[in-house]
Amino acid sequence: MAQRVTPLVAGNWKMNLLRRDAVALACDLVTRLQTGSAPGCDLLVCPPAVMLHAVAEALAGSPVALGAQDCHTEVSGAHTGDISAAMLADAGCSHVIVGHSERRADHGEDDALVREKARAAHEQGMRAIICVGETLEQRDAGNTIQVVEAQLNGSLPLEAAAANTVIAYEPVWAIGTGRTPTAADVAEVHARIRDVLVKRLPDGETVRILYGGSVNPGNAPELMTVENVNGGLIGGASLKADDFWAIARACPG
Ligand code: 13P
Repeated sequence: MAQRVTPLVAGNWKMNLLRRDAVALACDLVTRLQTGSAPGCDLLVCPPAVMLHAVAEALAGSPVALGAQDCHTEVSGAHTGDISAAMLADAGCSHVIVGHSERRADHGEDDALVREKARAAHEQGMRAIICVGETLEQRDAGNTIQVVEAQLNGSLPLEAAAANTVIAYEPVWAIGTGRTPTAADVAEVHARIRDVLVKRLPDGETVRILYGGSVNPGNAPELMTVENVNGGLIGGASLKADDFWAIARACPG
């Protein structure tokens, strides 16, 4: 039986919203926490980098954590357009997503780079949310487990531990498509991720493993209660406070 871990529901806002809407969304979540019964999970939002400061102000004093969507491997230097983990920590981030499939696809990021980004986040005292997941071709070829295990082994830095690392399993074909794996498929992949974590890390049993890909208020009660699912990484539905809140409430408290 899996060990009890407080779930984390994280909103990946991707390249969406302008500042006013981002602040309004953050304020809406804070108001719900102040006025309603709190969900049994931790909450995190990951806005676009230019909105981090404004959203940090809106979240100040609330339990909603702030995260970024990517970081560079270096602390500073001649890397036009990039943002270091040190800058993100300085902006108030406690988490940073690394190795999202959209970055792996759009920017050619490989496991070695993702591992260095996770290490850069760790060096700044932040938690790295390391993303893994198979494409449809890989799933259809029966290679899901091998692909996910290889990505995980390649992307996990040596110093990873429950205190500084979260894993997000996001099947590429489920992202933004409205399609999700069955609960049994999610359970199988999460169990294998757990096995790898337990083998590699002393406290691998308590590392959070999030599921991501077309989570919505309708499917969250099933997906968020699968064994070894310790919360979700939510894209589209995290842009609507009602939906994000409903997903958070679906997590076992
Ligand atoms: P959707 O929830 O929009 O499918 O996106 C999932 C995702 O990529 C979160 O990182």
